[in-house]
Amino acid sequence: MKDLDRFAITEAALAQIAATPDPRRKRIAEAAIRHLHGFAREVELTPEEWLAGIAFLTAVGQACSPVRQEFILLSDALGLSRLVNVMHDARSRTGAATESSLLGPFFREQAPEIPPGGSLARPGAAGTEIVLYGRVVDSDGAPVPGATIDLWQADAAGRYDLQAGDPAVMDLRGRIRCDAEGRYQVRTVKPVGYGVPMDGPVGRMVRGQGRHGQRPAHIHVLIAAPGHQELVTALYFGDDPHIDSDTVFGVSDSLVVREQAGLADSPRPDLPGVRYDFRLSRSAAAAAAGTESGRVGADPSRMMPAAE
Ligand code: BEZ
Ligand code: FE
Repeated sequence: MKDLDRFAITEAALAQIAATPDPRRKRIAEAAIRHLHGFAREVELTPEEWLAGIAFLTAVGQACSPVRQEFILLSDALGLSRLVNVMHDARSRTGAATESSLLGPFFREQAPEIPPGGSLARPGAAGTEIVLYGRVVDSDGAPVPGATIDLWQADAAGRYDLQAGDPAVMDLRGRIRCDAEGRYQVRTVKPVGYGVPMDGPVGRMVRGQGRHGQRPAHIHVLIAAPGHQELVTALYFGDDPHIDSDTVFGVSDSLVVREQAGLADSPRPDLPGVRYDFRLSRSAAAAAAGTESGRVGADPSRMMPAAE
């Protein structure tokens, strides 16, 4: 057995995985080992700190459930999700396609279909009613007929339906369809900003770092259309006090909106309106980047380990 000093151990670990058959897996595992070892050397990690890190990650895993994904929250709060999105956009966006943003931990599949002009909000929901409308176009500006748009958002108290803890409840989320000219419209209530879930290990971490934990008001958007790359993004309201200090780094200038009264082309001139045109990338670019969807995240119920 070799003497494994603080550098030789890294070489030994790399040597043991050298026969990994899949080249991409091998590259990722090698880089993970090199960076983890480099990190431990840089901070002179003690056994107590190593154990505290293990305990933290254990708590993050234990906080996960079919309605909560604490690991995604951790990735978001450390800026990793944004980094992965930025790199994915750089590889796969065509033309002036809309920038992506975080899927977040509150996305759910099979949201209810909302008819054209319908509302994401229940009748009488608290908040200011607004209309969101515009077009979905391709990278040449041509309409994308029949694109589906999933939308989800927090309520006027800053809470998502998933936070009610009952998976049967679906509120302030829905799927709409573009018409033959790529136009869409939906009513909802203007969201308010909210804090990321602070009652778990990631919340304790965020608080311990002296951060406010807030996200600016936003509506999540996921657009799918055959022949185009799925777009996961969000629209952020520019009048929110945390627009420049999002805890999870989701905001881009191009995604900032403000509702306006009296928009000339609004389908509901009686309501404050937000007009936003989404531009999709061709799916060939996504294929070339070696990705299937580019979605950073998932419905938390789909991420639970299969029962033994
Ligand atoms: C969200 O916008 O739903 C979200 C994103 C990241 C962390 C927490 C919440
Ligand atoms: Fe959100």
